[in-house]
Amino acid sequence: MKISIFGLGYVGVVTAACLARDGHHVVGVDLNPDKVSLIARGESPIIEPGLKELLQYGVQSNRIEATVDAEAAVINSDMSLISVGTPPMERGEPDLSYVISVCKDIALAIKKKGSSHVVMIRSTVPPGTLKRCQELMEDVCGQDSVHVAFNPEFLREGSAIRDYDCPPYTIIGTESAIAEQAVRDLYAKVEGKVMVVEPEVAEMVKYVANTWHATKVSFANEIGRLAKAFNVDGREIMNIIVQDEKLNVSPVYMRPGFAYGGSCLPKDLGALLYFARAKDLFVPMLNALPATNNLQIDLAARKILGYGVKKIAIFGLAFKANTDDLRESPTVPLVKRLLGEGCEVKIYDPAVNETQLMGTNLTYIQQHLPHFANLLVTNPEEALADSDLVVATHRTPEFQQLLQQLPETTKIFDLVGVFDHAPAVPQYEGLAW
Ligand SMILES: NC(=O)c1ccc[n+]([C@@H]2O[C@H](COP(=O)([O-])OP(=O)(O)OC[C@H]3O[C@@H](n4cnc5c(N)ncnc54)[C@H](O)[C@@H]3O)[C@@H](O)[C@H]2O)c1
Repeated sequence: MKISIFGLGYVGVVTAACLARDGHHVVGVDLNPDKVSLIARGESPIIEPGLKELLQYGVQSNRIEATVDAEAAVINSDMSLISVGTPPMERGEPDLSYVISVCKDIALAIKKKGSSHVVMIRSTVPPGTLKRCQELMEDVCGQDSVHVAFNPEFLREGSAIRDYDCPPYTIIGTESAIAEQAVRDLYAKVEGKVMVVEPEVAEMVKYVANTWHATKVSFANEIGRLAKAFNVDGREIMNIIVQDEKLNVSPVYMRPGFAYGGSCLPKDLGALLYFARAKDLFVPMLNALPATNNLQIDLAARKILGYGVKKIAIFGLAFKANTDDLRESPTVPLVKRLLGEGCEVKIYDPAVNETQLMGTNLTYIQQHLPHFANLLVTNPEEALADSDLVVATHRTPEFQQLLQQLPETTKIFDLVGVFDHAPAVPQYEGLAW
């Protein structure tokens, strides 16, 4: 393929070198004439293992050119990749002016070229940017002339070529079959799974991936500080933690949904936070966990109250499905708040039987929801009778089936994602999706 790459920074220059190695013809475009002449001579503007050799090879085999002439680059290519910078402005907002300016240049050139062109944004941009750029370009060169996709880059400086060749996956954010096929052809030699998603999803994934990396580094560092205060080597702790791929480094606990609870997580996090305070250690990230968890309960309560209905059925009271453990269940303070606001609540939880509760479990619920026995019903029909709203707090096949059979007049508020794909009906709402 003939490809023009706009922005010859870390991403652009590595991509240019790898695409040329894989047999494509690349024209690199940058505003900086010094970078352009370096690359045109086969010299690397950045230090990156293996890049110098690939660039030299690309230029010698006439598969890499570099220019400051955007128009000529578009006219002589089938597809343009945009990898210009999106640096932060004063308040953290990304500066999209370079991306917008390149899109305008490309659109004007497409108009001159007179045939259709694929444009792929690779710079990290907020959700909605691809659509904004598409509209902007279509206004200049017409609707059928430009096919757009967003393709986030996951390479890390220092191992960029290896990361290019073995990415975790290739994500194509597009609604255009032509753009999708062009991206697939472009990466035909790259390993790994390809996922085609909505542009906004692809755009957001990149921010979330980097935020997750920052979260992991900060978590490991806070654990390191705590461990050292106990004369324990935090590196050994984290080394053991990451070897559990069932619960620790896995999709478990990684779905947006309701608050955590139960007899262990709040208690053990609370203990660690106590030790940190006792040892005068600052662990702001760990300290923030109870606060953000309570916010999720508060959000659920405010949204439920926002329905303006009085009669509410709650499906699930225990802290998770298939247990009758009510200790620190986030649904308990939620129900308490709804009762306090004058709502009539009926609770159906197939695993919770008042007569069988005992020990600390019974004491907890008696202390926190003393009249809970009056709220519990033994079958879903009883909970649903006269209820205007059903709130699901467990993700079970039984609840899924029950919610599917509800009349249209009953609203559903789903705290946990009972459905993998939310039903597109007006009476359904998810807590945070
Ligand atoms: N650096 C990384 O490891 C990395 C990894 C993944 C994604 N990203 C994202 O990719 C994008 C690029 O990052 P980078 O580190 O390569 O940036 P960079 O700052 O190294 O390079 C950007 C280049 O774009 C050029 N440019 C600006 N306006 C231009 C225009 N109108 N026409 C042509 N060229 C123009 C600049 O002169 C510069 O050479 C950013 O959005 C970044 O967040 C970076």
